[in-house]
Amino acid sequence: MPYAHITGWGMSVPEKILTNDDISKMVDTNDTWIQERTGIRERRIAGENETTSSLAVAASLKALKVANLRPTDLDLVICATSTPDYIFPATASLIQDQLGATKAGAFDLLAACSGFIYGLNMAAQAIRSGSIKSALVVGAETLSHYVNWKDRSTCILFGDGAGAFVLQASEAPGGVYSAVMHSDGSGGDLLSLKNGGIKFSATSDPIVHENKRYIEMDGNEVFRFATRVMVQATNEALEAAGLTLDQVQWIIPHQANVRIIKAAARGLELPMEKFVVNLDRYGNTSTASIPIAAVEAIEKGQIKSGDKLVLVGFGGGLTWGAITAQWTGPFPSKGTVRPEQYRVLGRFRSYVRRIIRFIEGLLYRREL
Ligand code: ACO
Repeated sequence: MPYAHITGWGMSVPEKILTNDDISKMVDTNDTWIQERTGIRERRIAGENETTSSLAVAASLKALKVANLRPTDLDLVICATSTPDYIFPATASLIQDQLGATKAGAFDLLAACSGFIYGLNMAAQAIRSGSIKSALVVGAETLSHYVNWKDRSTCILFGDGAGAFVLQASEAPGGVYSAVMHSDGSGGDLLSLKNGGIKFSATSDPIVHENKRYIEMDGNEVFRFATRVMVQATNEALEAAGLTLDQVQWIIPHQANVRIIKAAARGLELPMEKFVVNLDRYGNTSTASIPIAAVEAIEKGQIKSGDKLVLVGFGGGLTWGAITAQWTGPFPSKGTVRPEQYRVLGRFRSYVRRIIRFIEGLLYRREL
């Protein structure tokens, strides 16, 4: 049975930085409170021309470059997101088209902030079953569109960004070892974004609709839930892999609140030094937070090839899950792949296909 190795990684965040001081000009809050209660100093906010798919494509190009893999070799693109460009087409299909990943299937996955864990597991399982050889998993969000900038209990928390992993098959042991995924829909109301679903669609009562446009959260309940499930999911995933905590070099947790991560560290009896934390600069980027944290830790030289990791997340749904993996790095390969060139070709191909579809449409109409 092949193993699913993580061979490429990339991240992309908007240029615009929103500091705690900036937010304190919008709502009654201050930098000291936000840093003490969340650990967040600043977050990135998408500009006018930045979308979930544009951030995702930028992160994916970097991941493909690290893996030295042609987009045309990808079999599958999964985009974990709660803020797709559209309900359909899937953001994953937009990514597939813009990368020029001509033979890949593509779908979006919605499991709120646990989406990257779920997506990574789905891609790894498809590789391990032998049905595909390579996959791109992207976590991408522009949650700033759904933040109520008048609600101080939520607007301080979220930021925009994208992170991507490339997975490839190999008979050599390594890569994703185990995964656990959980859901408890009875807690769905604790963290929700009702806008866009059919219950609060654009055609529903505008007053009700206005109230449901934003992220709603019971912060204290989510906090309690998160601290409990981070420990539980980590232990379950380790047990499934036959690993113990002392064999693990790094825990990469969902970046929601540093106090949640500290509580998980206490629960697992681990020092904070074992946890990758970068939420001070990005806030909670939902599905993007785990891959963004991983990419920064690799680029800083913290995570090295051969290291064993636990990736653990939680979010709306409620959902939670964890993955154990051994970090690989790029497979040896010949030549240098330039994924940006495929992107240009992909754009051209997309344009030509539209023209062909138009001509086919005219011919077909004449036949009718
Ligand atoms: N600035 C100043 N004061 C504030 C702010 C703020 N931004 N927000 C709340 N307060 C006040 C409250 O009004 C309250 O005042 P009161 O005592 O006079 O009523 C006081 O601070 C304490 O409020 P709490 O809600 O108890 O504050 P807490 O320390 O629990 O922090 C927080 C709130 C940061 C939201 C915390 O509960 C939390 O992080 N929860 C988890 C959130 C989370 O992880 N969400 C995402 C998970 S999944 C996903 O990523 C989509």
